[in-house]
Amino acid sequence: MNRKPLSKVLFGLALLAGLLLSHQAIRALDNGLALTPPMGWNSWNKFGCEINEQIVREMAQAMVSSGMKDAGYGYIVIDDCWQVARDAAGNILIDEKAFPSGMKALADYVHSLGLKFGIYSDAGTKTCQGRPGSWGYEFQDARQYAAWGVDYLKYDWCNNGGQNSTAAYSRMRDALAVCGRPIVYSLCEWGSTKPWTWARDIGNLWRTTGDIQDCWVCKKDWGGLGVVQILDLQVGLESAAGPGHWNDPDMLEVGNGGMTATEYRAHFSLWCLLAAPLMAGNDLRSMTPEVRDILTNTEVIAVDQDPLGRQGRKVRDDGDIEVWSKELADGNRAVILLNRGEAEAKIAVKWTEIGYPNKTSALVRDLWLKKDLGKFAGGFSAAVPSHGVVMIKVSP
Ligand code: GLA
Repeated sequence: MNRKPLSKVLFGLALLAGLLLSHQAIRALDNGLALTPPMGWNSWNKFGCEINEQIVREMAQAMVSSGMKDAGYGYIVIDDCWQVARDAAGNILIDEKAFPSGMKALADYVHSLGLKFGIYSDAGTKTCQGRPGSWGYEFQDARQYAAWGVDYLKYDWCNNGGQNSTAAYSRMRDALAVCGRPIVYSLCEWGSTKPWTWARDIGNLWRTTGDIQDCWVCKKDWGGLGVVQILDLQVGLESAAGPGHWNDPDMLEVGNGGMTATEYRAHFSLWCLLAAPLMAGNDLRSMTPEVRDILTNTEVIAVDQDPLGRQGRKVRDDGDIEVWSKELADGNRAVILLNRGEAEAKIAVKWTEIGYPNKTSALVRDLWLKKDLGKFAGGFSAAVPSHGVVMIKVSP
């Protein structure tokens, strides 16, 4: 029998293992970022395509002066419409009318305030607003972002030409991995190919639905959804979320004018219970004290940012009345009593529904009143306004 010398076989095996390992090293997302859900501001919900460097600078200033930075917000992200074309060498060109100082100067300014800078592109030929996409330019664009000082990339899915989503998003993941700068990678394929089943090793966060609208319930033909419609689509995705990889039910509409303060409080509470990324989408320069108080409630934000990284889940669904619960690192629970109905309702939760023995006596703190309500045995109940929540922390 013609045997290969053992040394040759071993060498072959070592080579194969080496190849597999180096491939793995590039493929697994291990960028150490977004260990808690990212918090920041994004231009899209309020400004759409009408965005420019002056607005971005003022928004960064307002993030600091409003107390949002102190509450944990850090990323200032420019969404679609900053890019206009490519030059002959394929370099992406910015809209010089809107961004006359250039992206490097803008990133430097944002960094000078102790904040981080984010940008947007698309895995297809064109962005959703018809600007140049990154398909075929992934490595060149990633290098450019790093040179500008970008810390966060939102990557959209318009004009994707029927590509395989995993392959398309992996390509930019691999480009970011070698661009020389840590960049949070935010996938925006609207849940269309179930990213919660494949994106964990590719991105730090992935959109789970179509675009949020500034309404409680409403539906656009093109896929836009209201707050509670998006909420319903998060059920069942819980196990995909954790430190470094989050389900993203889309950016916040708090303060954009289409909902009541009660509804905005509910929207914000639910996003925090879901361990959702908290990207404010309103005009931070002119928000009312009421809106600012919602966005900067540090007790509610602490639920979102809890280091255990559990996404909360619905534990009871009685039609318009729901109870949601999130396990926290210290063993306590954050609980939301949600009233989707048109009239005030009394909502009760039993401790057994949130994983505690029936006889438990627990301290209840109201996270919006910022007040300890006392010790409760067996459970708790409260009157909840229409389209509102009561949000509590339960500590046995
Ligand atoms: C898509 C995204 C939005 C926004 C727009 C920009 O609709 O889902 O979040 O980025 O594109 O064109």
